[in-house]
Amino acid sequence: MDLKPIKEVALLLAQNRDKTIFAFSGAGLSAESGIPTFRGKDGLWNKYDPRDLATFEAFQEDPLKVWKWYLWRMWLIARANPNPAHYALVELEQILPNFWHITQNVDGLHRVAGQKKYLELHGNIWEGKCRYCGAHYKEHEFKIIFPLADRDYLRNLSEEKFKKEILEGLTLEKLPRCSFCNGIVGPGVVWFGEPLPEHVLTQAFEIAKIAKVCFSIGTSAVVYPAAYLPELCKKHGGVLIEINLDETPLTPVADYSFRASATEILPLIVEELKKSL
Ligand code: OAD
Repeated sequence: MDLKPIKEVALLLAQNRDKTIFAFSGAGLSAESGIPTFRGKDGLWNKYDPRDLATFEAFQEDPLKVWKWYLWRMWLIARANPNPAHYALVELEQILPNFWHITQNVDGLHRVAGQKKYLELHGNIWEGKCRYCGAHYKEHEFKIIFPLADRDYLRNLSEEKFKKEILEGLTLEKLPRCSFCNGIVGPGVVWFGEPLPEHVLTQAFEIAKIAKVCFSIGTSAVVYPAAYLPELCKKHGGVLIEINLDETPLTPVADYSFRASATEILPLIVEELKKSL
């Protein structure tokens, strides 16, 4: 491993310590926690058609099928732990006073790791959203109307029990009903064809415009409008650092591009940054 670019990035962070800095992350950040990514060889969208599972049309047509798939993902997430890359981002937040983590991930592992300043562009899988009346349920509220959406309950289900109780045992009657309009409540994530939460997107764009340094971590950077953020930062004079196992459309414009795992590179950057302070 050539430590020269790692040291340069750490120095850049130290020099811009009081400036706005952000990390834009995607599914690759959680890959080593055992959460599947969307694209690539083992990606979810290679096995499943997003039109059947991640659209309001699909939910209206077959809410049971959609909920079974989301509960499967919730079950995987409930059993996963944050990895060293999540913890490195928490450390950056503790060292850099104006650091933000802007994520496309819905797994919330950044929260579990202890991240405080984060923006979730695509929502959160543990929350609930009623597409019929617009009601939004925070995690602790959602568990009340949908007891299956409970991390502790799901974490303790073996694969066999998960199959029996969720895949075979889930019925329409067990799906969550909205306290306001009685419609079936869906997961609190952004589906294809839906807008991103406006206040979150606005804040993310403001951060991207003024940031001096931006990381793009574990994202294929192909889903818009989220993928505009690193581009926007670069356009406004920010330095772009990419960490990804593969090349992405951002690679040619990145100032630094690490072809390696986030779990390897981020802790090294944090270690070097600590030395330089
Ligand atoms: P993708 O699955 O498109 O991309 C994941 C990226 O992470 C790929 O470029 C991988 O090469 C890279 N990667 C995998 N493991 C890695 C590791 N250990 N370290 C570094 N990089 C790694 O996921 P996203 O870019 O997050 O949207 O996808 C964007 C959006 O598309 C998601 O938020 C989701 C999906 O449809 C919604 O759900 C609305």
